[in-house]
Amino acid sequence: MSSYLPTWPERDATSVWHPFTAMSAYADEHAPVIAAADGFFLVDTTGKTYLDGHSSLWCNIHGHRVPEIDAAIRGQLDRVAHSTLLGLGNTSSIELAEELIQRAPTGLSRVFYADCGAAGVEVALKIAWQYHRQKRQPESRDLFACLGSAYHGDTVGTISLGDIDRFHSLFGGLMFPSLRLPSPAMSGLSLEECLAETERLLANHQERVAGVIVEPLVQAAAGMRVHPAGYLKRLREITRRLGLLLIADEIAVGFGRLGTLFACEQEAVSPDIMILSKGLTGGYLPLAATLTTEEIYAAFLGDPWAGKTFYHGHTYTGNPLACAAARASLRLIEDRDVLGNARRIEVALAEYAANWAAIPHVAEVRHRGTMVGIEVQRDPATGTPFPAEQRMGHQLTLACRERGIIVRNIGDTLVLMPAPAMPLALVDQLADTVTAALRDILR
Ligand SMILES: Cc1ncc(COP(=O)(O)O)c(C=O)c1O
Repeated sequence: MSSYLPTWPERDATSVWHPFTAMSAYADEHAPVIAAADGFFLVDTTGKTYLDGHSSLWCNIHGHRVPEIDAAIRGQLDRVAHSTLLGLGNTSSIELAEELIQRAPTGLSRVFYADCGAAGVEVALKIAWQYHRQKRQPESRDLFACLGSAYHGDTVGTISLGDIDRFHSLFGGLMFPSLRLPSPAMSGLSLEECLAETERLLANHQERVAGVIVEPLVQAAAGMRVHPAGYLKRLREITRRLGLLLIADEIAVGFGRLGTLFACEQEAVSPDIMILSKGLTGGYLPLAATLTTEEIYAAFLGDPWAGKTFYHGHTYTGNPLACAAARASLRLIEDRDVLGNARRIEVALAEYAANWAAIPHVAEVRHRGTMVGIEVQRDPATGTPFPAEQRMGHQLTLACRERGIIVRNIGDTLVLMPAPAMPLALVDQLADTVTAALRDILR
C-alpha cells in the first residue's frame, strides 16, 4: 500500500473548482493554500507568508484576525448565529441597519439585506422593477440602463447589465436586454460628449427605463477605469431631469476604498438605491445591503393581501454574525481614522504610479484611492496587446506571488488594492515588490 500523502495544493486541485480560474493550468501552478492569517499577511499550509495586496479580492478593510471584529463575532455566537428575517427581526441586523442609514447619503432610509454583491444588485433591480409597476408609472418600464464595460456580478440578472466580453459574451441568449450608455472612462468621448450622448439615449427611452445603474467613480472589474470628476453628479442631474431612478453599485468602492465611506459622497450624490457588500463586514463574512428611499419603500405598502409585498429573500438574509462583524468594522473605520489612512495611501500610490508608467510595456496606470490597475501591452505606442497565450497579466500575478505578495490580474491589467487600513510601510513593501516583478517580467 502506498504511503504517499497528497499535498494541500494537490488535494485542492483535485477537489475544488475555483472561480475565475483556468483549471487546466491550475494544478501545475501549485497555488498557495491559505491556512491562516496574521494582520495584513496570509499564511499558506507550508508556513510561507504573503502580503495581501488585493484585500482578499477587494473586501478586506482592517487586515485579518482583527481582535475587535473577532470578538464581535464571538460575542454574537454566544447569543445566536442565525435566525431568519422572513417575518422576524434580529437585533444585530436592526443595529446595523440603523448605523448604515445614519451614514448613508441623504434620503436612503430602508435597508434590505442579501448575502453577496450580485444578490444585492438583483435586489435593487427587482425593487426598481416592482416599484414602477406598483406606482402605476408607465407599465412599460422594462429596461435597465448601464455603462459600457460595466460589471455588477455573475448571476444571470447581473450579467445582463455586464459588458465585459470575456465574462459575458457567451451568455447572450440567457440575458435580458439592457440600454448601454457610454462609459466616461472607456468610450473615447469627452466628458461633455459622453453626458450629451447619455442624456440623448436616456431621453429616447425615457418611458422605458426602470433604472440607471452605475459603479460610482471607478469601474473596477473593467480594469480600474476612473471616471472624470463631475460625471457622477451630472448623471444624477440627468436622471433627476428625466425622472429616472439612479442605482449606485458601491460594492467595490464603498467603505473607504476611495478615501470616503461611500464614493457617492465625493460628488455629493444621493442615489435612489445604493448597494453595499464586500467591505461591509470588513472582509470577514458574506453580506450585502441594498438601501432605498422612503418613497420607493412606500410603494410596497398596502393591504397585506393586495400583492404589493416584495417577495424576495435569501435564507441567510441579515445573518446576525455578519451584521455583528459589519458593526465592528464600521466602529474601527471611525475610531482608527481608516479613511484618513486610505487618503494617505492614495498619495503614496500616486508616486509609485508615475514610476510604473515609465516602465517599458506599461501602457497605462489607472489609480484612484487605494485602487490601482497597471495595464501592460506588447506595444503601447500602437496599442498592440501581448498574445493571449502569453498570459502576461497572469505571469505578473505569479511573479508577485513568488516575491511574497498576493495580487490578481484582470486580463493584462495587474490590480493592486491594499486594505484601506494598511500601514504605509506595508504599502511601500507592496509597491516595491510590484516594481521588481514588473521590471523582471517585462524586461
Ligand atoms: C461593482 C461590483 N458589483 C458587484 C460585484 C459582485 O459582488 P459579489 O462577487 O459579492 O457577488 C462586484 C464584484 O467584484 C463588483 O465589483
